[in-house]
Order: sequence, then structure tokens, then C-alpha cells
Amino acid sequence: MNNWNTTENYGRIARWLHWGTALLFLLAYCAVYYRHWFTEKKTAENLVALDLHLSAGISVGIIVILRIIWRMMNEQPVLEAGPRWQYLLAHFAHYVLYAIMVLMPLTGYLGTGKATDFFFMFEIPKFEDTWLFNAFVWEFLGLTFKEFEAPIDFFHKEIMGAWLVWILILGHVGAALYHHYKLKDRTLIKMLKGDKS
Ligand code: HEM
Ligand code: HEM
Repeated sequence: MNNWNTTENYGRIARWLHWGTALLFLLAYCAVYYRHWFTEKKTAENLVALDLHLSAGISVGIIVILRIIWRMMNEQPVLEAGPRWQYLLAHFAHYVLYAIMVLMPLTGYLGTGKATDFFFMFEIPKFEDTWLFNAFVWEFLGLTFKEFEAPIDFFHKEIMGAWLVWILILGHVGAALYHHYKLKDRTLIKMLKGDKS
């Protein structure tokens, strides 16, 4: 089985990176909503759910770097689009999804006043405890952590997390299912099975 993409198929590595990211998104969402809806503040469960959210989110941030490098090293399968506007929209949507995969982990990390217990294995220091915070935010911008994190937190939770990311991912999944069941083309197959089909 081919590890590399071809003009017809996503290779094994691109597929693993794609579905790995999708699972981590699911974990990040389940953990944070479980925390909100089913746990009492400051209980052990509440903290475990938060650490799972932070760990899954940081993993997305690491994987997206690998994904961008891998994408640049590979050709891209031709998009199964009809008119030119559909082709451009599909391309644009993929770039927007990359933007989400970068912005969500970044804003999450910069705006969190807690270290991450990374999948309960080791600790990743919070941004406030890094030299970059001291040099850039505290000394250069002259802001406290509270002043710095407020707008970033608002963007992460209220604008992106609660609304935009949902809409964009559901739109992406909807488009994949529409291609598969209605147009009956190879869009989903090439991301699921690659050259086995
Ligand atoms: C794939 C990446 C991520 C996604 C999709 C995501 C999504 C979300 C969502 C949906 C919320 C809840 C919004 C609401 O209140 O309705 C949230 C809250 C939060 N996120 Fe993220 N996030 C990601 C990464 C991160 C990372 C990397 C960190 C920190 C290292 C982080 C820290 C937080 C914190 C502290 C909260 C508030 C938790 C709470 O109120 O219970 N997030 N995020
Ligand atoms: C159940 C969830 C998902 C399904 C069914 C799905 C399906 C697909 C399919 C069928 C393609 C191939 C599109 C084509 O080449 O025409 C694709 C590509 C892509 N998907 Fe998803 N996807 C899902 C979740 C996600 C998530 C959560 C993200 C990131 C936030 C994402 C980001 C991307 C990107 C960036 C591409 C372009 C190819 C690449 O560079 O890897 N997908 N997806």
C-alpha cells in the first residue's frame, strides 16, 4: 500500500494524519462538554476532563505541523468537483480547516492559566510560565496574563469553539457525505481506503 499521495488517492500517511486529527477533535469536544454538563466544579473528574481537552488540543497542534509538512511534500489528489466555483470552494474550505487546526490549539494554549498534564504522563508548562510570556507580553506589551488572555479566551471559546468550528466541521462532513451518497463519487473513498478501492 502506498504511503504517498497520488493524483487519485490520499496515501496511507495522509489518511492516518487526517483521521487521527478528526478523532482528537472529537475527544477535545467530548471532554470539554462532559466537563461543562456532567461534572461539578473543582472535582477530580472535572480536572481530568479539562486535562484531556488540553492534551487532545495540544496533540492537534503538533500533528498539524506534521500534516502541513507532509502536504507540502506530496501531490494532492484531484478534487472531484463540478463547476469551477465548487472546485474553488472545496480548496478554500480545506485551507480554512487548516487555519482551525492551527488557531484552536494556539489560542487554547496561550489563553489557559493552567499547566497541561499531557495524557497524565508529563507536564507542559502554561504559557504564563514561559520566557516568551515574560519577554513579549509582560515586558514588551506591558500586559498582565489576565489582560492578555481575555480576548484570546473569548475568541477560543465564544467565537470559534462554540460556533464557527462546529459549523465548519459539520459543513465539511456534510459535503463528504453528499459526495458519497448523492453524487456517488470517490471523495470519501480516497480518504478512507486510498488505492485499495
Ligand atoms: C483542537 C483544538 C481545540 C478545540 C476544537 C477546542 C475547543 C474548545 C471548546 C468547544 C471549548 C468550550 C467552549 C464553550 O465554552 O462553549 C473550549 C474551552 C476551553 N479550551 Fe479548548 N479547544 C482546543 C484546544 C485547546 C488547547 C490546546 C487548550 C490549552 C492547552 C485549550 C484550553 C481550553 C480551556 C481552558 C477551555 C475552557 C474550559 C472550560 O470552560 O471548561 N483548548 N475549547
Ligand atoms: C467524520 C469527520 C470527517 C470526515 C467524514 C471527513 C472527510 C474528508 C474527506 C472525504 C476528505 C477528502 C476531500 C477531497 O479530497 O475532496 C477530507 C479532506 C480533508 N479534511 Fe476531513 N473529514 C472529517 C473530519 C475532519 C476534521 C475534524 C478536519 C480538521 C479540522 C478535517 C480536515 C480536512 C482537510 C484539511 C482535508 C484536505 C486534505 C488534507 O490536506 O488532508 N477533516 N475530509
